[in-house]
Amino acid sequence: MNTTSPLWPAVLDHIRFDSPDPDALADFYRDGLGMAKIRIAPDLYLMNGPQRRLLIGKGEKNGQPFAAFSLQSDTQLRAVREMLLANDVELQPSPTPLFRDDALAVKDPDGRIAVFCLPADNVASGSHEGLRAAKFSGRLQHVVVATTDLDRLGAFYEKKLGFTLSDTVCAGEETGPDAPAAVNFYRADVEHHSFAAFLAKTVRSDHHCYETTCWNDIRDWADHLAEMGCTPWWGPGRHGVGRNLFFMAKDPDGNNFELSAELEHMPRIMPPRRWPNTQATGNAWGKAWDRMKSTGADRTVEAE
Ligand SMILES: [Fe+2]
Repeated sequence: MNTTSPLWPAVLDHIRFDSPDPDALADFYRDGLGMAKIRIAPDLYLMNGPQRRLLIGKGEKNGQPFAAFSLQSDTQLRAVREMLLANDVELQPSPTPLFRDDALAVKDPDGRIAVFCLPADNVASGSHEGLRAAKFSGRLQHVVVATTDLDRLGAFYEKKLGFTLSDTVCAGEETGPDAPAAVNFYRADVEHHSFAAFLAKTVRSDHHCYETTCWNDIRDWADHLAEMGCTPWWGPGRHGVGRNLFFMAKDPDGNNFELSAELEHMPRIMPPRRWPNTQATGNAWGKAWDRMKSTGADRTVEAE
């Protein structure tokens, strides 16, 4: 177990989504998630809400080309740079205008970019004051991907980038050290995961999540989104792994987003655990979402 990674602590700061119609997708996140919609370049929107921000740009539907994690200090940035160079990780041009110019960008084995730096201080903020959903608590907290080679992707995030493995869900009910993995959850601070990867039939975005403060926040978000015609397709429930209350819904492009509360905290020294692949592991209150049976665009939990 790695308890000396310079990546600790880091938190998810923003992610980018691509859409054939970024203007319409940005409208959804403005009204649905309470984020100011700021056009910062042709076909590129900064969505800025309380404790949450996204970039939405023109591109292939369901594209999620990068995730950006913020660091605490220049000292930490230097240490992360040294770690990446020592691990022979090739640095890429930074894709995000929301971080400083000295951001560290790396390409993972699936071609997705991870960025590490401190936020730039010259970014337009806009105003989310008048937006109904801006009064609801929801901190952008984790991003999850699907991959066809979990062992390779997981090794990159853990061994090369310095994320800490929190939990592994095994492919079957056997949880021994040699049992193949179906899901890996990684953290870079005490929150159970800020990044996770599911084994699936295709490489794709899986979901992103906003952490709220309590069960009543989950209720308020569900009421608000339902009034917009955006109803949960999975949950409310409680994940077995991470123990968080949750529901999951889809934006107009079909990207899954999650509202969560009570996500487990794990101290840095806590060793990773291994879980059987059961319904209760995915959802203690009911059905799980089996990514190996899902294309990501369907509503597999309902269909089963
Ligand atoms: Fe999640």
